This record gives sequence, C-alpha cells and structure tokens, in this order.
Amino acid sequence: MNPSGRRRKITPSEWWVRRIETLRGQSQEASQLFQKTKEAYSCKSWAILKLAILAYYADIYTAIIKAHFDKAYYIDLFAGPGLDRISDLNNLIVFGSPLITDRVPRKKFDELILFEKKEKYAEALRHLLPNAKVRKEDVNGPEFKAMTKARLEAGSVHFLAFVDPEGLEIEWETLQHLFNLTGDLIINYQSTGVSRSALKENKTSAEIETLQRFFGTDEWKACENEDALFELYLEKIREHREVTIPIKVKSPYRFYYYMIVAVRKTSGSQRWVSAIEETKEKIEAIKPEDLENIIRRLSGGQEKLAVGT
Ligand SMILES: C[S@@+](CC[C@H](N)C(=O)[O-])C[C@H]1O[C@@H](n2cnc3c(N)ncnc32)[C@H](O)[C@@H]1O
Repeated sequence: MNPSGRRRKITPSEWWVRRIETLRGQSQEASQLFQKTKEAYSCKSWAILKLAILAYYADIYTAIIKAHFDKAYYIDLFAGPGLDRISDLNNLIVFGSPLITDRVPRKKFDELILFEKKEKYAEALRHLLPNAKVRKEDVNGPEFKAMTKARLEAGSVHFLAFVDPEGLEIEWETLQHLFNLTGDLIINYQSTGVSRSALKENKTSAEIETLQRFFGTDEWKACENEDALFELYLEKIREHREVTIPIKVKSPYRFYYYMIVAVRKTSGSQRWVSAIEETKEKIEAIKPEDLENIIRRLSGGQEKLAVGT
C-alpha cells in the first residue's frame, strides 16, 4: 500500500520478475520430467518471454471463460515435446506451452488438444500429458480441421489456441478454419523472420508458395517493409476478430516478435479484453536491457528474485 492507502500499481519490471519467477518455480519439475523423456525443444532465452505471457494469460482466460461456457479447451498447433531447453541459460529446462497450460491455470482447461508433426515429440507429449489429445500430424492437414470441428462444435465450448510456429509454418487457411469456431487465438508473429523471407531478392518458387500460403493472399508482394507486412497480416485477422490486440515483445537481442491476441466477442469477453489491454502496457513498457537482466537471473541460484530491480 502507498501512503494514500491505495494499492501501488506494479511496475513493468516487477510484472516481468513475477512472470519469470513463475517459470523458475516450475523448472525443478521440468528437469525431473526431462529425465523421463529426454526430449526438449532447444531455444534461446528470448523465446521464454512468450511462455511467460502464455502462462499469465492462460490463468486469466480459464478464470473468466469457465464462468460463461461449459467447457474451455486449449489447442496447441505447434506443441513441441512439452519441455524447452534454453541454450543460453546453462541449458535450463523449463515447461513448454502444453505443460504450462496444464500446470499453471488455477482453473483447469477441460481438454488439451496438441498437434505436433515430429513423432518423437508427440511421443514425449503422450508420456508427459497422458490425458491430453495428442496428434502426430501436420497442423495444416485435414485431421486438424476434422478433429477441431468435431470437438468445438459440440455444445457450449470455447477455445484458446496457441499458434507458435518457428517461422512461416502456419497456413492462413488453417487460421481461417479456427476463426469460424468459437474461441480466441494467441499467434506468435515472427516479424523479423517473416520480413526477411518476404523481402528477400530472387525467391524460389517454393519460397513464394510458402509466403502465399502464410498470408492467404498475394498482397504481401506489394509490401515494401516489415511494418507493411505486419499491418497486412493484422488487418486480415481483424476481418475475423474485431478485437485483435498485437503485443510487441522486444527481445534483448535487438529483434522483436508480436504476440497477437485475437478475441471473439462473446459473453465474458469484455473482462478478458480489459485484462489483455492492461498487461499489453506492462509487456511493452519494459526496456530490452532490463528484461535481459531479469531473464539472466532465471538461471541463477535458488534465492528468490528481488522484485522491482
Ligand atoms: C517453436 S516450436 C514450438 C514450441 C512450443 N510451443 C513450446 O512452447 O515448447 C515449433 C514446433 O512445431 C512443430 N511443427 C513445425 N511445423 C509443424 C506443422 N506443420 N504441424 C505440426 N507441428 C509442426 C515443430 O516440430 C516444433 O516442435
């Protein structure tokens, strides 16, 4: 409390410290699970920012949505093996997106639907999350559409989909399918990578085809820079979800990505939208160098991270 008796608003640094602490709190269990599957998706520390954001939103989402719908489903389109290895933090093992959404929310999802095209990753997921519906499939194939349509059109069901490709692997048609169902999406848009591919000179016909499938239009050809490409993508999402909130995550390594939260207006959505708007402010306000310090401490000793530094 401050002297006026009101609760002090937390600063962006404090917000991030708390998020990173959540990940660190789970890292011991993550290391134990790794001994069982020996599979972890290797990534750099900037990638854990999206996990910190997912952990935060998944908890708020189930608390709000489960008051309005009979069931809340989580769909992970690029699930990975369940665990991540952070190569620049002493190979620290942390929960990946499917384990985060299983363990973190205080109100649980009714079902986790996990798509992963690599056999050994899908096998690891089955081991770690025996109750989840794991499919070893290309998410852009017919099985994804058939399965999600059957599950999500059965009664009062709302979904949160996490779309976390490495680059251009998500086809627009696959997103379009989800937009026609009742639920929200969090899409990781790799701005630097997308523009590198789209603005490159002398593209092969396979590269052009991939971009075409990613954008679902050839309008990307007229985009002259990174911002124009991003705006095109965002506008296309807005055609399907009037509440589309891009959150810019500036990595300490000079590039950035967007977590685009696309919300379908339904009962309960206003509280959910307010929560997204409020946290967007915190996520975007932090300086990359401060965030780097906070992340580095994730791999430190067992002492608690000091809040507000
Ligand atoms: C960036 S990783 C996802 C990491 C995961 N979300 C996490 O938090 O640990 C992308 C994953 O998608 C998988 N993948 C790539 N293309 C795919 C596709 N077309 N269908 C299904 N999975 C795919 C890759 O094998 C990889 O495991």
